[in-house]
Amino acid sequence: MTKTVVAVDGPAGSGKSSVSKAAAKRLGFAYLDTGAAYRALAWHVLDSSVNPDEAPAVIASLASFDYAIGTDPDGYGVRVGKTDVTNSIREPRVSAAVSAVARVPEVRAHLTALFRDIIQHTEKRGIVVEGRDITTVVAPDATARILLTASEEARMSRRSAELATESASDVAIALQKRDRADSRVVDFMTAADGVVTVDSTNLNFDETVDAVLDVIRTSQ
Ligand code: C5P
Repeated sequence: MTKTVVAVDGPAGSGKSSVSKAAAKRLGFAYLDTGAAYRALAWHVLDSSVNPDEAPAVIASLASFDYAIGTDPDGYGVRVGKTDVTNSIREPRVSAAVSAVARVPEVRAHLTALFRDIIQHTEKRGIVVEGRDITTVVAPDATARILLTASEEARMSRRSAELATESASDVAIALQKRDRADSRVVDFMTAADGVVTVDSTNLNFDETVDAVLDVIRTSQ
């Protein structure tokens, strides 16, 4: 049986996590949130009192990075060592540190190998993998390759609605800063050759999931 691999890339606030998870559920596929892995490493770096801007120390911390992520779209947990970090990796301090950690080439190579291993060993008949470099680096041979975009305005307002405790302008500033830093490392704003763009600016959640499922169906 050939496994279906669906690669979804996109910027923060494009809805790629919730849309990818919903698409995986509808198809009975596994789901892998690669951003959660980068966040777990940033959490581990902070927990080890390592400065995220010091690349050699970040690289050294990979040796003690004992990480596990679930791939069930109905409830996937993230663990570092014995600690459940599913919620703490979403804290603003982790979001602020993650780009510095993710720009280190050794980190990217380490996590890319881990993602490929998870993709290869999934027991389901397919897996939806989402992040920034899935269509280009992690799984360039994926069955379906999708870039999920939305206007900056739509992305900011969706994200501030999610994080009702923070002010909308704080969210917008933090997101723009992270997108700017991330796009220096990986181009996730333009579709690579053969990648289908789904623009969700004028689509609601269900319409976006349907658009993604359409791309998957026509790619198989
Ligand atoms: O998807 P999310 O916004 O949770 O990703 C958190 C961070 O992980 C991004 O801001 C980026 O720095 C990094 N990341 C990455 N490559 C991926 C997925 C995430 O560099 N494939």
